[in-house]
Amino acid sequence: MRVLRRTLGTLLVLGTFGAAVSCTAARGDDARPGDDPPAALAPFERLLPAPASARAGGPGYAFGAGTVIRTATASGEEVRQLGELLAEQLRGPSGLPLPVVDGVGGDGIRLRLDEEAEGVGDEGYRLESAPDGITLTARTPAGLFHAGQTLRQLVPVAGPGIVPGGTVEDRPRFAYRGAMIDIARHFFTVEQVKRYVDQLAQYKVNTLHLHLTDDQGWRLAVDSWPRLAEHGGGSEVGGGPGGYWTKDEYRELVAYAGERYVDVVPEIDMPGHVNAALSSYAELNCDGKAPERYTGIKVGFSSLCVAKERTYEFVDDVLGELAELTPGRYLHIGGDEAHTTPAADYAAFMDRAQAVVGRHGKTVIAWHQLAAARPAGGAVLQYWGHDKTPAAEKAGVVAAAKAGHPVILSPADRLYLDMKYDATTKPGLAWAGHVPVERAYSWDPGAYLAGVPESAVLGVEAPLWTETIATRADWEYMAFPRVLGLAELGWSQAGSLGWDDYRRRLAAQGPRLDAQEVNFHRAPGVPWS
Ligand code: ACM
Repeated sequence: MRVLRRTLGTLLVLGTFGAAVSCTAARGDDARPGDDPPAALAPFERLLPAPASARAGGPGYAFGAGTVIRTATASGEEVRQLGELLAEQLRGPSGLPLPVVDGVGGDGIRLRLDEEAEGVGDEGYRLESAPDGITLTARTPAGLFHAGQTLRQLVPVAGPGIVPGGTVEDRPRFAYRGAMIDIARHFFTVEQVKRYVDQLAQYKVNTLHLHLTDDQGWRLAVDSWPRLAEHGGGSEVGGGPGGYWTKDEYRELVAYAGERYVDVVPEIDMPGHVNAALSSYAELNCDGKAPERYTGIKVGFSSLCVAKERTYEFVDDVLGELAELTPGRYLHIGGDEAHTTPAADYAAFMDRAQAVVGRHGKTVIAWHQLAAARPAGGAVLQYWGHDKTPAAEKAGVVAAAKAGHPVILSPADRLYLDMKYDATTKPGLAWAGHVPVERAYSWDPGAYLAGVPESAVLGVEAPLWTETIATRADWEYMAFPRVLGLAELGWSQAGSLGWDDYRRRLAAQGPRLDAQEVNFHRAPGVPWS
């Protein structure tokens, strides 16, 4: 028996699981602490993100050829579809048929929607494993989805096998658990982004922020301003062809993410980072002249023309079409690095842009530079500072948080996935320093910005900027495994966080990432098998 950790006042004791699953016995007494091979971790010990509580006990469930997935007819079509998705996810590695059937009365994997379920909140769940089946209980379909993702980590990496007996009770620490992908600097297809959605959702990340526009490219079709995509989409860093998504493609991605309980937050970056738009429409420029398209990686040189009324027609048209396409509550309007926009103009522009978002029924997210202007009521600030960010800039964010603005934490020297791991990392940048896997994980979002209490932290997000990232291989290499740390920081309770435990659980994910052909960095300091 091993005392794993103390969380939520519960002493979690993880025992041996009986003959079929006695993998704890594989850990030899002469193994050095902390260097155990990942196989030494029993299934309930290796969950990532760490659950609020996991208690192993009793005989387990034989996941095999006879397993069915059960949903109650009364739970409705959404839960039925969720059952189909879980079946598909489990079928791949197991090779089992896993039919989805009506009625949660019999043996098998049971998806139970129970609006009265206690202690699980909106996204949490309970998972109970016993010889007659595995019961997933949640108040919402999202909670059932997360339960299913936990189950995926409890079954064998491949083939049938025993899921140990026991109970997991779980719920997230933060409501917003996000990752951002920049498809503006280098273009990526909807199919490539869908793959990331699958990778993220299995670790309970629930928000995908899409950086859709920047100096180097405009990536979404806008009916009222067609040259944005047709001309502005035709460039990217390094001179490649670029590309853009049609509205149908965007809808397809939003729907795909939605089926995995991932909300899409689209970003139109303004008033800076707009060369692609300025290049597409001469009338958006103060001097009436359209610049060339841009394929370098400088930042901070472009600005919308704050004095022109046409600028606000553009903002209204673009955000209006985007709001209509986007079921989620947020529109991100950028607001970073507007270095050529005078401060008063910046504030005036952001006032109007925020009002447009509100008129289209959405809530603003902006990079934390908005704190130096006038954040609208309810606006969310995304902090991307780092250890060397001037105190006055941090103080502005703290003041905004005190005034009621929720904060998303994306510290560049912790969560920017484009920062190199170390000096040997080929892709990536290093302006915020190197970010090894331990540094990305070992900090507490609830106590990160002095003066911003946990209650003001909406959540965490890991952005991946793509100035230097042009391929799926490099994207995955930079994101994995650091984005798993983001997932745990967003989901797991503060008392469950700890590098030494985490790195062993991270190592245990290696075979799963390998099975999914994820090109991840086998970071030093993690006992990969
Ligand atoms: C940013 O990295 N400019 C938000």
